[in-house]
Amino acid sequence: MDQKDEIKSRLDLVEVIREYIQLKPVGVNFQARCPFHREKTPSFIVSPERQIWRCFGCNKGGDVFSFVMEMEGLSFVEALRLLAPKAGVTLQWQNQKETSRRNRLLDVMDLAVRYYHQLLIESPDAKPALEYLKGRGLEDKTIENWQIGYSRDSWDDAFNFFQGRGFSEQEIFLAGLTVKKDPRNTAGQAGFYNRFRGRIMFPVNDVNGNSVAFSARISPEREAVEKMGKYINSPQTQIYDKSRILFGLDKAKQFIREQGNVIVVEGQMDVISSHQAGVNNVVASSGTALSADQIKLIKRYTNNILFSFDVDAAGISAANRQIEEGTAQKLVREEQLTDGEDNLGKMRKYIYPALSHDTNIKVIQVPGGKDPDECIRNNPDDWQQAIKNAVSVMDYYFNKTLSGLDLSDIARKKEAAAKILNIIVNINNVIEQDAWLRKLSGDLEVSEQVLREAIAAGRKAKQAKSVNSESRPGAVNPLPPGTGYAEIFSESLLALVMKFPQHLGYVIRQIKPEMLAKGYHREFYKKLVIYYNIISNAHAFDYGHFRVWLENNIEDEQVLIRLEELISKLALLGDKDFYEIDNDQAKLEIGKITNQIKRKYLNKKMLVMERQFSEAEKSGGPEIKKLMEEFKTIADEIRQLN
Ligand code: UTP
Ligand code: MN
Repeated sequence: MDQKDEIKSRLDLVEVIREYIQLKPVGVNFQARCPFHREKTPSFIVSPERQIWRCFGCNKGGDVFSFVMEMEGLSFVEALRLLAPKAGVTLQWQNQKETSRRNRLLDVMDLAVRYYHQLLIESPDAKPALEYLKGRGLEDKTIENWQIGYSRDSWDDAFNFFQGRGFSEQEIFLAGLTVKKDPRNTAGQAGFYNRFRGRIMFPVNDVNGNSVAFSARISPEREAVEKMGKYINSPQTQIYDKSRILFGLDKAKQFIREQGNVIVVEGQMDVISSHQAGVNNVVASSGTALSADQIKLIKRYTNNILFSFDVDAAGISAANRQIEEGTAQKLVREEQLTDGEDNLGKMRKYIYPALSHDTNIKVIQVPGGKDPDECIRNNPDDWQQAIKNAVSVMDYYFNKTLSGLDLSDIARKKEAAAKILNIIVNINNVIEQDAWLRKLSGDLEVSEQVLREAIAAGRKAKQAKSVNSESRPGAVNPLPPGTGYAEIFSESLLALVMKFPQHLGYVIRQIKPEMLAKGYHREFYKKLVIYYNIISNAHAFDYGHFRVWLENNIEDEQVLIRLEELISKLALLGDKDFYEIDNDQAKLEIGKITNQIKRKYLNKKMLVMERQFSEAEKSGGPEIKKLMEEFKTIADEIRQLN
């Protein structure tokens, strides 16, 4: 067994894919919306039995390697590196240097977490910090769980400690724990000093629980003298890409799955307090806007996102930032912010993608304009209640736009209607759209008809704008590029006979290889016919046996690969489209498809003959009569199909 096969044999494809997207069991397989293209109905299938996946929407498919390559944008070798440790396989030729560099950075981070945590618990210097945290309601257990720490107000204690434990200056620096001295300020002296001094240290973990960074809050005793920000965070490093990390996700992920939703808050104190209060499906974006990658990370676990916004002005703009980036970035590039718009105007633009993509966004409004941490300290039940009262972003938006609106002020009313209609136009789901339209009509006291006309106009404008843009979110499962109906018929038929071989005999009598759409369909079908006639009989058709037989009877490696691919595709297609049908329904279906294929084939033949016919007429040749007869036969055949 080579390394690739060994890794494959030790991994479960379903488990690996589950790390990225949610899978729903359907019959013997799993189904999901394809992570590689936009779609509304799931056409992405995973077969645990065969350990293969395929999307019938975009036609991608393969094994565990091709999945992570596609998903993470990796080369094959990189995929090997990623999967080997998951499978517990040590790669023989692995680039030792690179993995060991990464491991060294993780190791020094690990040491740092323990060092700072120890200080917080034991050092007299850390007393004010520890008191402060306890004063904010953190329990000992919580401080330990989150490995909260303290960095001394020192230029070099931590730096020296890490060096004493065998880490090089360079490694400590690359982990983001020190800062390079500026030679201009140190009389030309080179060197490093502690990045974090006199701060409460919050370790930031990746989704697997490795500490990759710190977010360091100023300690109370230094607040008066400190010139730097309230928080100092690790810089981007080889192990820390802040746009791919969500604070608390390693601890929250299991609860997010269980709850079916995630709560996104702003600060790490909010996350920690919430977890302590028993609400565990909470993560923080750590003050920055959510990135597209962070949204993807969330979507491995859920499509339902609850944002907690402060209701004060600052909070609203922070909320905007989140919705903004999280959903808009990369997803809808064409939407540009216009300057000078109010927050709600911005928000309107930024929820377009949320509405047309499959994340459901709700807004949690914490009473009294507090952040979740303050709210929880005040009364944990208030937080639970606020979560229960979360409103869909549409409701939230309605509220904000319409509350206090004077309905007799026509100009303001028009303005409000336009704002909200603009969002409604972007809702893909017609039923949902309709519901909001009716609400708007009621709230504004404007007839639905008028609003509908406005929507129609809006939609027209939108369509005109998007004629040339590929794959609009509204498009309903377009065929994969290059797939014609002929191809679909051919593949459906082959999938059906693979699944219901008792009808193979019938199909063989009806369908000649040249009637199928593609060269490799015909090739496959010919082999199937031979196999059927000389090896097998209708009831003893055996998928596995047929595969082995194929391998032994096809010399051309390329052809074999192509056919193997086709077989796995057909097997999944059979499971997907014909999973629930019984033998009789299969027979009916096969009859219908056979007719379709024949009709298409005969029509094409007629077209060719018509041409021959007019040629023959011109030259007045003797073959006219013969052609006429053939023509008639085909016409009869077609008629019989109807
Ligand atoms: P907040 O200012 O809301 O802080 O910033 P907080 O979480 O409420 O902190 P406490 O309650 O005062 O202790 C929210 C998040 O933004 C990031 C931090 O991750 C913080 O948790 N932030 C804030 C920074 O990165 N730098 C800053 O200077 C401030
Ligand atoms: Mn706070």
